[in-house]
Amino acid sequence: MDLGLHSGVALVTAASRGIGRATAERLAREGMTVVAASRSGGDAEELLDGGRIVNLPHDLADEQATAALVNDVVERFGRLDAAVLNTAGPKITPVLSTTWEDWTAAHDLLLRPVVQIGTAAARHMADAEVGSIVLLSSTWVRQPAPGGVLSTSYRSAASAFIKSLATEVAGSGVRVNQVLTGATGTDRTQRIAEIKAEANGTTVEEENAAVVRDIPLGRWAEAAEIADVVAFLASARASFITGTAVPVDGGAVRAAH
Ligand SMILES: NC(=O)c1ccc[n+]([C@@H]2O[C@H](COP(=O)([O-])OP(=O)(O)OC[C@H]3O[C@@H](n4cnc5c(N)ncnc54)[C@H](OP(=O)(O)O)[C@@H]3O)[C@@H](O)[C@H]2O)c1
Repeated sequence: MDLGLHSGVALVTAASRGIGRATAERLAREGMTVVAASRSGGDAEELLDGGRIVNLPHDLADEQATAALVNDVVERFGRLDAAVLNTAGPKITPVLSTTWEDWTAAHDLLLRPVVQIGTAAARHMADAEVGSIVLLSSTWVRQPAPGGVLSTSYRSAASAFIKSLATEVAGSGVRVNQVLTGATGTDRTQRIAEIKAEANGTTVEEENAAVVRDIPLGRWAEAAEIADVVAFLASARASFITGTAVPVDGGAVRAAH
């Protein structure tokens, strides 16, 4: 399927590795110019098939730089067709051990940047009367997991923000959706398995096997499988889809809707 994204400009945040990087690469392979923002990805440009990735140093924890990010991209590249709001994952911590500092840090990582970048992108796209915003979220908004209270809480707020935004800008031709990511093999999930193994006196292999036992399709997702769905939602092939949340989780969330 030709997604028709060629010649467009996309912004993907938290995009030096993992799901963010896979998404940036997928959109570039569709022919887009993709601004891949992260702290450690440098500032080099990479040509990929018909498109390119322009790496941009950016720290989502920097409130002022995050507020300016969309305008910086539009000034430099002249347009913004797709914004993919990815963030780093927060600390894994039981509710009763979570400190106020943990809550504040997770807010500044998971919610504030999503509101800042989502609002700025939607303003720009509404003026242009075209564009697509995709939030990379988590199945944990539907099904909380042990230690996941910071993720579940702030991502649920981000989901409500996305739904509100989608409704408000739909009349301007802007679509706003979210992908609920399930267990995906990345550096982060490897680190989480190591933490769990240490806490539970198990091995990383045992912790990873426990995750897979709960997934009907019987395996982890690859980051590219998440990226495929993001690229579809970003494209005009998804022209009648807005305000929705698409789980990509191998069937792990059991709720019927
Ligand atoms: N993997 C999963 O199974 C899964 C499932 C559900 C939800 N998620 C969520 O999806 C998101 C991505 O997960 P992942 O597994 O791809 O993680 P990852 O492999 O650890 O990648 C995290 C990305 O975030 C960037 N980052 C971290 N802190 C940043 C900051 N302050 N400013 C800008 N960029 C920052 C990192 O780049 P730099 O360090 O270079 O900045 C990196 O590119 C996370 O929020 C995670 O919780 C993941």
